[in-house]
Amino acid sequence: MQVKRGKQMAFVKASVVGEIAPGKGKQVAVAGKTLAIFNIGGSFFAIDGECTHRGAPLAEGECAGTVVECPWHGARFDLTSGAHLSPPAPRGVTTYKIQIVGDEVQVDI
Ligand code: FES
Repeated sequence: MQVKRGKQMAFVKASVVGEIAPGKGKQVAVAGKTLAIFNIGGSFFAIDGECTHRGAPLAEGECAGTVVECPWHGARFDLTSGAHLSPPAPRGVTTYKIQIVGDEVQVDI
């Protein structure tokens, strides 16, 4: 039996390409986590789905390039790094790697 060490890549299907319109996000539940997946000009990004301020659904936020604005109080997050760019959010969110396989959007969870 092979013993594996460290974090293994575990990509799981989170959505399909056609379900996320360009410039928009979609909230998904994957492996017990709530994520927000965004389609920015055909590139896909995945972050934690809930804002670190009061838990708003970030998938419903407006995007400006690779920055999403929280729909409740306007905190902004960088989709590429998860960093928070403005208050009232106290910290950033986790980002997740994405791969596209066929029409599947898969997230490394
Ligand atoms: S819930 Fe996101 S800024 Fe308040």
